[in-house]
Amino acid sequence: MSWKNIHLKWAVLGLAALSAFGAVADDAKLRHEGVATCASSLCHGSSQPLKAYDSALQNEYTTWSQFDPHSNAYKVLLNKQSQEIARRMGIGPAHEAPACLACHSDAVPAAQRGAKFQLDDGVGCESCHGGSEKWLATHYQSPRIPRSEHLANGLVALEKPDVLAGTCLGCHVGDQNRYANHRMMAAGHPRLVFELDTYLELWRTSGGREHYRKKAPTNHSALWVKGLVDSSRRQLSLIEQHGAGRMGPIPDFGVFACHSCHRDLRLTAFGGSSALGTAPGDLRWQDAHLLVLRRVTAALQLGSRTELDRAVIALQKAAHGDASSLRAALTQTRAALSAVEQQMGSVSWSAAQMNAVAQALTDASRRGEFPDPAAAEQAAMGMVVMLAGLKLDQGKKAEINRLFDDLRDDNAFDQRRFVKWMSVLGTRN
Ligand code: HEC
Ligand code: HEC
Ligand code: HEC
Ligand code: HEC
Repeated sequence: MSWKNIHLKWAVLGLAALSAFGAVADDAKLRHEGVATCASSLCHGSSQPLKAYDSALQNEYTTWSQFDPHSNAYKVLLNKQSQEIARRMGIGPAHEAPACLACHSDAVPAAQRGAKFQLDDGVGCESCHGGSEKWLATHYQSPRIPRSEHLANGLVALEKPDVLAGTCLGCHVGDQNRYANHRMMAAGHPRLVFELDTYLELWRTSGGREHYRKKAPTNHSALWVKGLVDSSRRQLSLIEQHGAGRMGPIPDFGVFACHSCHRDLRLTAFGGSSALGTAPGDLRWQDAHLLVLRRVTAALQLGSRTELDRAVIALQKAAHGDASSLRAALTQTRAALSAVEQQMGSVSWSAAQMNAVAQALTDASRRGEFPDPAAAEQAAMGMVVMLAGLKLDQGKKAEINRLFDDLRDDNAFDQRRFVKWMSVLGTRN
């Protein structure tokens, strides 16, 4: 499973199905009792969705074990690709390496593993819902025991956008303990791709089965922007942790935009752009989420748009400055992201606003502001979120599929074709 397959899933799901992130609730050293404790047919292992509870379909285990990519996350560590990655990295078997288990399993310390806990369950229920030691026995006694009590006992409040975002992004972008570094990439790990709204919907409906009933319609546009903001914040932390000389004179390359190095030598196309804050030959930090967010804030005419614009440019320039300019730029960018987040609260996502954002993504594509596959795929996913919001996605399905087909292979990325499809999709009609 990888980005390379995602277009297939788009096709399978249909785009109409398209439907928020920050701090993970502190796991507080709670024991993880293991997927098997959730799997009884009377609990979450029903073969069919049941109606006994509003909040649970009761077939979550069945759906997870058969269709959810996360139930396979440990098993991929046993395959040939993983064995090769681990061999090239010299870290012993992948399925025993902490560097891999961190994201491919529910890697809590041994002392927190309950009797039925199995590492080979991969990313199980408690990876997202939290260690169940203190709520397992009571969480179904609703409404007798209020949900607030379960939350206090460590059930993760995934209905809160901040918490949800923090949960997914911890593995899909990285955090203090989890990081897919350049050595891992160069040894053959797929480049990490994530857009909160798109991936949440793909995951929630994997295999054409819903993981949960929605209690209220999702505001996809808001969730999309929330994901851009929180992914950007995480990139800033990764830059701080791995980019600023912590690992020796050369920072880890994984915090830079992959394609600022991995491109052909073409003496007709000189890099660098004042809009991106770079000069020819400069490396860029990973900025795909920021580059899209910048155009969203401009299209929505947020008061923070200039602040964010300046911050992004200062951040890129600081990659070639000294440590204090980098610190200042990180602070400036974090402040701008907070301002954006606050001002997003009053955006109503009218049709006019969604059209303006779609148009802005097209215009920015034409200006070359999404210069590589990582930025282009973020812009493309954002475009689809807007089109779905405008209910135009079904009518443009063929063009959307072409856009994602073109984004399948980084090495075949063609800027002109990308601009063409973004123009076809982003133009009002
Ligand atoms: C503990 C780490 C972890 C957490 C938490 C996590 N994921 Fe994942 N996710 C993974 C791994 C590892 C894979 C790859 C599994 C594989 O290929 O077998 C994956 C795969 C996926 C895929 C399939 C990707 C593809 O290219 O096919 C989607 C979609 C996804 N995750 C969405 C989410 C969402 C949404 C959340 C939050 C609700 C989330 N994930 C939380 C680790 C995690
Ligand atoms: C920071 C979290 C993270 C770490 C650390 C990590 N992975 Fe992954 N891995 C993922 C995610 C997320 C995916 C899904 C790729 C995507 O869709 O973006 C994935 C995908 C993969 C895939 C492709 C799976 C497929 O279904 O095609 C392999 C193989 C893999 N990882 C092996 C490893 C190995 C081996 C290690 C240790 C050397 C490792 N991973 C470390 C998060 C991680
Ligand atoms: C990748 C993360 C992830 C994994 C793995 C996962 N869940 Fe969930 N689960 C979620 C999210 C996100 C929601 C939706 C929360 C919301 O919006 O209210 C959810 C919702 C649910 C709900 C509905 C609860 C409610 O209050 O609406 C149940 C029940 C549930 N999950 C059970 C399970 C079980 C059982 C497993 C393991 C077999 C599991 N989940 C694995 C992320 C996950
Ligand atoms: C600062 C420049 C730089 C950045 C940024 C960078 N790489 Fe690399 N990459 C290299 C160098 C140098 C090598 C080693 C080439 C060799 O061994 O011939 C390499 C090797 C690789 C390889 C092995 C295959 C090959 O082409 O040599 C892969 C795959 C790879 N990188 C992926 C990535 C990914 C994914 C990212 C972004 C997360 C990334 N790289 C970011 C410089 C970079």
